[in-house]
Amino acid sequence: KADLRATLLEINKIAAQYFYVQLKSEQGKIGYTYLKNRELSDETIKAFGLGYSNKYSNDLFKYLQGKGYSEDLIRQAGLINTDERNGVYDKFWNRVMFPIMDVNNRVIGFGGRVMGDGKPKYLNSPETVIFDKSRNLYGLNRARTSRKPYFLMCEGYMDVISLHQAGFTNAVASLGTALTTGHASLIKRYVQEVYLTYDSDEAGTKAALRAVPILKQAGISAKVIRMDPYKDPDEFIKNLGAEEFEKRIGGARNGFLFSLEILSKDYDMESPEGKTAFFKETVKRLIGFEDELERNNYVEAVAKAYKVSPESLQKLVTKTAVTEG
Ligand code: UTP
Ligand code: MN
Ligand code: MN
Ligand code: MN
Ligand code: MN
Repeated sequence: KADLRATLLEINKIAAQYFYVQLKSEQGKIGYTYLKNRELSDETIKAFGLGYSNKYSNDLFKYLQGKGYSEDLIRQAGLINTDERNGVYDKFWNRVMFPIMDVNNRVIGFGGRVMGDGKPKYLNSPETVIFDKSRNLYGLNRARTSRKPYFLMCEGYMDVISLHQAGFTNAVASLGTALTTGHASLIKRYVQEVYLTYDSDEAGTKAALRAVPILKQAGISAKVIRMDPYKDPDEFIKNLGAEEFEKRIGGARNGFLFSLEILSKDYDMESPEGKTAFFKETVKRLIGFEDELERNNYVEAVAKAYKVSPESLQKLVTKTAVTEG
């Protein structure tokens, strides 16, 4: 119901304002200090509406009830939990709060980060009638007005915020989930190209490998930027700065060629057998390009990168396409 949606958005907006005020209060000092230690400016904190949820409390629950919202509605907004021992209590407590906004700057959910090593590191709002994780992107409300013809797609809230603070206002992140076709069609409304800036660990590499074909299928071209020797864009920017990050953008790799490079690690590329097996798999992927011109261009690029004759690779592609087709 449109009514319910509007009310839940209202509740979330009030909650976001509440968290923001708490951050500036005496109780919230711990959260504010945490954000300062992560080198966020007051301007950034304000722009992203970051906040703090109080320790061991049902403060927000009481506050929202005081504003006239029923327990049922507050629960539907995903802001409270109930159990036998504690009764009703705030879902988020003693966390730094990241409101998640849709493209129209409406608060649809929250991510809350623990300030130490507790688990989970980030607690997120459940999916609700207004919060669909597979159809929203963190930072899109701001990135949509960036002038760049591409988005920087990263893993985390802090990556997006650090990048925006450093001037890369085209950064977005998926909401603790893998990139979906829903994300891809959302992106397609704004840009035709995405630079994947995932974490340097194995999970980040795998996420990039999975994202490339999903983007491609939506008609978005994908490039990959590596953050090594740092863990993620946030740490990269803090250590090497915006100029070095800009250089990494300049050195971004084509998504398909990046995928092949990762694939090649599964083969003994020094031996003829290994290399042959690698090319057979590569050819299978090459015939996936339906556009002939595009496919030919990739054949050439692969031939060059892996030092085989483009003619023989082209022949293999044609032959395989015929037998498979
Ligand atoms: P990371 O573990 O890479 O965290 O998760 P991060 O973004 O670098 O966080 P910091 O720098 O330690 O603060 C990437 C993203 O995955 C989701 C969040 O959206 C996070 O930003 N995530 C991660 C969760 O939803 N829950 C978790 O417990 C961990
Ligand atoms: Mn969903
Ligand atoms: Mn990660
Ligand atoms: Mn990080
Ligand atoms: Mn990370």
